[in-house]
Amino acid sequence: MILLTGGTGYIGSHTAVELLQSGEEIVIADDFSNSNEEVLKRMETLTGKKIPFYQIDVKDKKALKKVFEDQAEPIRCVIHFAGFKAVGESVKEPVKYYRNNLDTTLSLLEVMQEKQVKQFIFSSSATLYGKSKGKAPFTEDEPDTGCTNPYGWTKWMIEQILQDVCVADPEFSAVMLRYFNPIGAHESGLLGERPNGIPNNLMPYITQVAIGKLDHLRVFGDDYDTPDGTGVRDYIHVVDLAKGHVAACDYIKEHKGAEVINLGTGVGYSVLDIVHAFEEANGIRIPYEIVERRAGDVATMYADASKARRLLDWKAEKDLTQMCRDSWRFEQML
Ligand code: WQD
Repeated sequence: MILLTGGTGYIGSHTAVELLQSGEEIVIADDFSNSNEEVLKRMETLTGKKIPFYQIDVKDKKALKKVFEDQAEPIRCVIHFAGFKAVGESVKEPVKYYRNNLDTTLSLLEVMQEKQVKQFIFSSSATLYGKSKGKAPFTEDEPDTGCTNPYGWTKWMIEQILQDVCVADPEFSAVMLRYFNPIGAHESGLLGERPNGIPNNLMPYITQVAIGKLDHLRVFGDDYDTPDGTGVRDYIHVVDLAKGHVAACDYIKEHKGAEVINLGTGVGYSVLDIVHAFEEANGIRIPYEIVERRAGDVATMYADASKARRLLDWKAEKDLTQMCRDSWRFEQML
């Protein structure tokens, strides 16, 4: 049995579906702060399975213990998705981010310790490479030069906590998956990214321009040191990312200790590459204007994805056209 905290969110819901379809038993704990009941219903429709679900705050240890105690088949592994993840919001409300993202993690680790559960897969982020002096592609042992925002620092701190837990308990396993830029949606159009309010991220902004909710895309700067001057990122299909978690659930059974693993494609695309790929894939024009750079953005960020290939026997399979088509289908079905 695998527990997914935040398992009805964008990455969590896609991972839950892939785990169920791979034959795993799962249970979800989520407070619906960034999702809703409809997502859970769609996950059950997609898999044809009733999913054990607890609407709780993962910081609430009493409620969390009940999740572990209720399961006929013991929980062997936890995938920890639950956490706030808006970079800009974290700059405005740092205490909210540190309180939530650290307390959920520490409560979970305390309950796991009590229940003797020793496999922890963590939803980390490539934002940890944000201040690296090095050049992309980034490997997992890129020198640690800190983060550029409180959201990133919470990921950095939680990775440190997990490293320390693994030193203290040689039987503990922690796999920290550093996501690059997840985009796309389940091919059914039933699951996808549902940003609250005006999207911060590129692809949901593009799909809202395409459907007419937003007037045009603002491209944040075209004077970066990149082929076309716009920012370059490693966009990975969310279903590929989900399958990376399935592979990590197998890997963690046989390996003790802490491992940091990039989940990316190893390929960088610029903002205008994405705009043109979306237009080509869906036959829709995306009007845009070049505006000033966004504070905190870096020019180029993409993964060296070889460690995931080596350790997890996993690599991203879906291409940019599929990412653009699947994102657009989901927006139309929202
Ligand atoms: C991508 C590119 C922008 C919007 C962030 C977080 C990271 C992870 C993914 C949580 C950049 C450009 C964007 C727009 C634009 N989130 N852009 N106009 O900043 O690489 O990563 O989201 O884990 O932690 O840092 O993603 O989608 O915001 O931006 O020009 O309206 O698109 O400048 O070059 P980012 P993004």
